[in-house]
This record gives sequence, C-alpha cells and structure tokens, in this order.
Amino acid sequence: GDLPLVIAIDGPAASGKGTLAKRLAAHYGLPHLDTGLLYRAVALTVLDAGYAIDDHAAAARAAATLIADRLADPRLRDRAMGEAASRVSSVPAVRAALLAWQQRFAGNSLGAVLDGRDIGTVVCPHARVKLFITAAPEERARRRHLELQRRGESTSLGAILDDIVARDARDAQRSTAPLKAAADAVLLDTTDLDADAAFAAAREVIDRARPH
Ligand code: CDP
Ligand code: CDP
Repeated sequence: GDLPLVIAIDGPAASGKGTLAKRLAAHYGLPHLDTGLLYRAVALTVLDAGYAIDDHAAAARAAATLIADRLADPRLRDRAMGEAASRVSSVPAVRAALLAWQQRFAGNSLGAVLDGRDIGTVVCPHARVKLFITAAPEERARRRHLELQRRGESTSLGAILDDIVARDARDAQRSTAPLKAAADAVLLDTTDLDADAAFAAAREVIDRARPH
C-alpha cells in the first residue's frame, strides 16, 4: 500500500506551527508530536531536580531517561520554560537522546505529524511533506502575548518580542541541528494569515504531494 504519510513542520517561536500541526494531524488522522515539549520537559526535569539550567550532564541524563508522563505537565507552557528549553537544546547529548525518541514516534506504521525546529532537516529528512512556517517577529510576539494572557501569565509585549528574537537567534546559530528550512521545504509566511487560512494553505501543499 501507500507509504506512511509523515509531515514535518518547522519554524521559529510562535509562528503557529503547533496549532497547524495539531489541525493537520486531526484532519489526516495521524498522531502528532510537539517536539518542543520534549526540550521543555528536559529543562523542567533539570530544574525540578535542583540543577542549574546550564548543567549539561544533568540535561543529558534528563533527556536519556525522559518518560512520556512528563509531557503533560502544565508548567511546560510557561514563558520561562521556552527559554530554558532553548538552553538545553544546544547540548548535543540532549539532541541525540531526543532524536531516537522522535524517530521512533515518526517511524510508526500510520505516519505522523511532527513540529519543531529540525524535523525536516534532521529528525525526518525523508518526510513526504515539509513545511517551514514563518511570520514577522512582531506578529509572533502579538500571538504569544495573547496566548499567555489567556493563560493568566501577564507579560509585556515588548518583553515577549525580546524573548522571541533572542531565542530565534540562539536556535538559528547553534552548531547542532540549527533552526533552518530544509532545501525541499515549502515556505509558508503566516504574517497575514489567520490559523484557518494557514490550515487551508498547508492542506493544499499536502494534497498535491500525496497520491489520491
Ligand atoms: O507552535 P508555535 O510556537 O509555532 O505556535 P502556536 O503555539 O501554534 O501558537 C500560535 C498562536 O497564534 C496560537 O494562539 C494560534 O491561535 C495563533 N495563530 C496561529 O496559530 N496561526 C496563525 N496563522 C495565526 C495565529
Ligand atoms: O512554542 P515555541 O515555538 O515557543 O517553543 P517550542 O517549540 O516549545 O520550543 C522550545 C525550544 O526548544 C526552542 O526554542 C528550541 O530551542 C528547542 N527545540 C529544538 O531545539 N528543536 C526542536 N525540534 C523543538 C524545539
């Protein structure tokens, strides 16, 4: 029969890749993995155990022993955890341990939707469809601000924009699996697209790429 449909979605912070990935997974009946949660869970494990966030050995141990239960902790979505995740994510041993985890998930017989920073380039280089989602930093900050407000975390728009710009720079500049579009990814700029329009545009790309 058909090869499993694997959809790789990458992009910078608050570009809307998670929202899009979730909707695509529901639409195509595929399991979804938000890979940012793995890095957030490693960071939370390090901090909960009382280690410093730049303790690379502690981060590597946390990644090697990560269990799925950890991914349900509501604290993973805190603003500070995005920053902490970005710090542990530059540790090669952390990335190596999580790579195995992600590739097991993507290799199941159904196919999968994964979203993150290096899905199309490193985790699933053979994915049938690769999307790279972008949006202007100001628009991404506005979205994240609204999201955090809804969660009751009050932070100024300016502070969120600073966060996002710093995190994008760190993610794009690290030597192991930096944030970048795969050569064969389709770029989707959502600055002027709402979530529905982004979903429609992505479906068009995917339906063109798969046999009917
Ligand atoms: O996963 P990522 O950090 O890239 O973004 P997200 O968690 O999906 O959050 C993006 C936020 O922007 C959500 O609150 C969405 O409702 C909203 N949004 C979107 O996802 N896509 C758009 N094209 C426009 C807004
Ligand atoms: O939702 P948002 O885009 O703000 O963050 P996230 O996707 O949860 O990712 C948090 C951090 O984890 C990112 O800033 C990256 O440093 C790291 N990450 C990564 O290195 N590789 C991935 N595949 C996913 C996340």
